[in-house]
This record gives sequence, structure tokens and C-alpha cells, in this order.
Amino acid sequence: MKGVVLAGGLGTRLRPLTAVTNKHLLPVFNQPMIYYPIQTLVNAGITDIMVVTGGNSAGDFLRLLGNGKAFGLKHLNYTYQEGEGGIADALSLVEHFAAKEPVCVVLGDNIIEGNIASAVRAYRHQGSGAKIILKKVTDPQRFGVPELDGSNVVSIEEKPADPKSDYAVIGIYMFDGEVYDIIRTLKPSGRGEMEITDVNNAYIARGDMTWEELDGWWTDAGTFESLLYASDLVARTGANKMQLTQEEVGANV
Ligand code: DAU
Repeated sequence: MKGVVLAGGLGTRLRPLTAVTNKHLLPVFNQPMIYYPIQTLVNAGITDIMVVTGGNSAGDFLRLLGNGKAFGLKHLNYTYQEGEGGIADALSLVEHFAAKEPVCVVLGDNIIEGNIASAVRAYRHQGSGAKIILKKVTDPQRFGVPELDGSNVVSIEEKPADPKSDYAVIGIYMFDGEVYDIIRTLKPSGRGEMEITDVNNAYIARGDMTWEELDGWWTDAGTFESLLYASDLVARTGANKMQLTQEEVGANV
């Protein structure tokens, strides 16, 4: 299974912090934001990773991350998204790298307290289709929100005014090699972006979507409020805890 960190986009909600640098290079407590999603993948035993950058200061990712030595990696792959075509547009750029293998995608501004290793393991057993991870939130209007029927996801709405549940679809997704064909069928949404929610709804329509709930806290860091909240959470409780033992990582790769 390959790993993808999406760190494109223009970070307009964080201007002027993002006027001359990339949102994912900003600090979240004591580390650049991009460190957290990379660590999330590495902690789940996923070590073949591509970072999709974009916007300002793309070269600084290479200067900061190099070949991923800080994460115990031997190599990191990079690509560049022109413009701000949306999350699904950024994901389409990894097709060649993924070479039909399943991918675990983490949004570059998503930070978790714990570990997704058990979800990744469950997805491996699933074998095909897609898997999303949900978390109960007090402000679902800010996110993709699922309508649930028992263990089934009926549909997902992007930033609904009237949410059908109090869950957010967090920015960690698992997809099989069909995802690029699905993206090719999408049209830009009202905000002019290729939406990951449309990708997920296509898997739901095929009856090929599973979900699980995340343990521990989760936050994005793409607004002033959530960036401050993320720094505070990390400072007080630490992120990316519950690292696997070497045997567990080995068994999971
Ligand atoms: O944080 C979880 C939420 O992320 C989900 O609940 C939503 O369903 C999903 O659409 C997304 O919502 P946002 O509106 O918060 O996404 P945002 O535009 O902030 O982008 C999140 C990350 O995705 C960003 O940090 C980098 C990456 N991205 C985004 C865009 C628009 C790209 O790589 N390229 C892009 O063009």
C-alpha cells in the first residue's frame, strides 16, 4: 500500500500567513504542519510515500524533508499540483506513482492524536473499494458529513448547512486503483474544485465503501482557529502517539 500526503492548494483561508509560504510549512506547536500527516502514514507502516505540493514555496518541501530521514525513510517522492483544482485533482497526480496499488491518502493539514494502523489493516483485508474514517464533531457544517444507516454510509454531503449526522469525514482515505477512473468522471463543484466527497460518493454508489471511527482527537489546521487549536492540542497532549513496535510495522507493511 502506498501513502500520499496532499499539500497543494493556496491556503487562502490563512492569508496573510500563506502570502509568501505554503500552509503546510507553517508551525503546529513545535513542528511544521506537514510532519504530522507524514508521521501518520509512517506510524501505520506505510513507507512508500508521495507528497503532492503546490502553490508557494514548493521547493522548500525538498529543503525541509529531503528523502524523509527525519521519519526513518530512505526515499520520498514529490509532485506538483498547478493551481488549486481541489483534493481529487491533487490525488489524480499520483496515478503513475501508485501503479494500481491501493493508496492511503492524508490531507496535509490533518493531525491525529493516535494511529490509523488498525484501519489500514482492515482495509488490506477488505481488498478493494474505499474506506473512510469518521469522527464526531461539534461543527459538522465545516466538513464532509456522512448520512449513516447502521454500519452503512448512505451518502456524504460537503459542508452541508443542515448536516445529517454529527460526524465529520476526516481527511484520511483509502482507495483502490479504480480511484483515478472515478476522478476522470468528475465535474468541478460550486467552489470550482474536484471534490473528494464526489469520489467517496461514487464508491458508495458502487456499494464499495466502509468506514470506521477514529480513536483519539483529530483536527484540521486550515483556519486561524483550527491552527491555534491544533497547536494547543499538540502542546498539551502530543500527536501521532501509539507508535507501533517494529514487529507490528513489519507485519503491516
Ligand atoms: O479536513 C477534512 C475535510 O477536508 C473533509 O471533511 C472535507 O470533506 C474535505 O473536502 C476537506 O475540506 P476542506 O475544505 O477543509 O479542504 P481544504 O480546501 O482546506 O484542503 C485540505 C487539504 O487538501 C489542504 O491542506 C491540501 C489539500 N489540497 C486542497 C486543495 C483544495 C490540495 O492538495 N490541493 C487542492 O487543490
